[in-house]
Amino acid sequence: MHHFALNGGALHAEDVPLKTIAEAVGTPVYVYSAATLRRHADALTRAFAPHEATLGQPLVAFAVKAASNVSVLRVLARSGLGADTVSEGEIRRALAAGVPAERIVFSGVGKTDAELAFAVGLGLRQINVESTVEMERLAAVAGRAGRVPDVAVRVNPKIGAGGHAKITTGGEGDKFGVPVEEALDLYRRFGRDPRLNLVGLACHIGSQITELGPLRAAFGVLAAMTRTLRAEGLDVPRLDLGGGLGVAYAGDDPTAPLAEYAAMVAETVGGLGVALTLEPGRLIAANAAVLLARVIQVTERGDGRRILVLDAAMNDLLRPALYDAFHDLVPVAPREGEALPHDVVGPVCETGDTFARDRPLAPLQAGDLVAFTGAGAYGATMASEYNSRPLVPEVLVDGSRWAAVRKRPTYEDMLAREPAPDWL
Ligand code: LLP
Repeated sequence: MHHFALNGGALHAEDVPLKTIAEAVGTPVYVYSAATLRRHADALTRAFAPHEATLGQPLVAFAVKAASNVSVLRVLARSGLGADTVSEGEIRRALAAGVPAERIVFSGVGKTDAELAFAVGLGLRQINVESTVEMERLAAVAGRAGRVPDVAVRVNPKIGAGGHAKITTGGEGDKFGVPVEEALDLYRRFGRDPRLNLVGLACHIGSQITELGPLRAAFGVLAAMTRTLRAEGLDVPRLDLGGGLGVAYAGDDPTAPLAEYAAMVAETVGGLGVALTLEPGRLIAANAAVLLARVIQVTERGDGRRILVLDAAMNDLLRPALYDAFHDLVPVAPREGEALPHDVVGPVCETGDTFARDRPLAPLQAGDLVAFTGAGAYGATMASEYNSRPLVPEVLVDGSRWAAVRKRPTYEDMLAREPAPDWL
């Protein structure tokens, strides 16, 4: 569910016409709905409410990489969400948004010593360690700092899942997590190390997962490991179940219903009495933003092909180029007329800068506004300035209020970041 809808023949974000935003800020621009962000956060919390007796209240740590604008994070922080982070930059964003350190998880396959020291100094909720060598580095860093961080071991359960090979993370050949046997040994080895406080296990097996089977199997692996370690007298008070739940990008896409997800979590790990962390990104943010763009021109080729050229490009929304991802394209002021197939492209000089091929679209003209839906997760965060196109701005709408929460850099801003050395 989201809050982008036609009202009087014009597409709105909550109470604000997208046309108003396009005229004030220009296009392309990401437009987020605060009400949608809140609704998604609440939906997940509500899905777990019936299981409170067995599961407690999970910490929902929003995966900052999905949508890292500080104002977006602030909306989620006010809804009680924590943050799952993968860099010092993301930790700083979460803190700036008002997420308390004890609700911030630090994940990631390649944390530097400096980043580990930063995290240890802050006393984050936990640091998810992804390899034996990283655990050794963290122990050394913590020893030097004289602080004992809470640490979980991210397990690679050899169960990959997800909407595309490039976003599967739990498979045997993937770079993430520690294989089960090695993870058990790691836990045994560091479980009694005074420099670290091992608090549990974590996994994240992929993204845009639309069926529960692989997640169920992975959580079963974590449950079995928990029992094994406890039988040896080690404490395993927490499990971090990662993110990965898929969303509908098209009307008929399958999704994993939240109530069934929560029931499955209760079945797999409910008896263990562990404190849970969830790390959803896409589920919270994907349908909470659109990428608003303007039609530059409609090119009609001799062979009858229609090419819709937008002022948004792959540098603004990379997912179609990188993962062949589908994003619906809707007109901001729909016209009557027969839908005809269009190739939808941006101005960047690559064939990969194609958002869709043969997409049936009602008539559009130069100057029309259009919106890519489902663009709130991994949209603005993956944008770049390729082809020297200024970084796409972001707008947050809340009811009838709205504000540009990331401004479009001017060309002067862009050039000022590149000072020429005096010897050139
Ligand atoms: N936790 C960890 C450790 C992760 O690596 C990720 C995502 C998440 C949580 C959140 O996963 P989600 O709930 O959003 O599925 N750029 C890709 C998605 C990459 C996901 C990377 N890891 C895309 O646009 O589809």
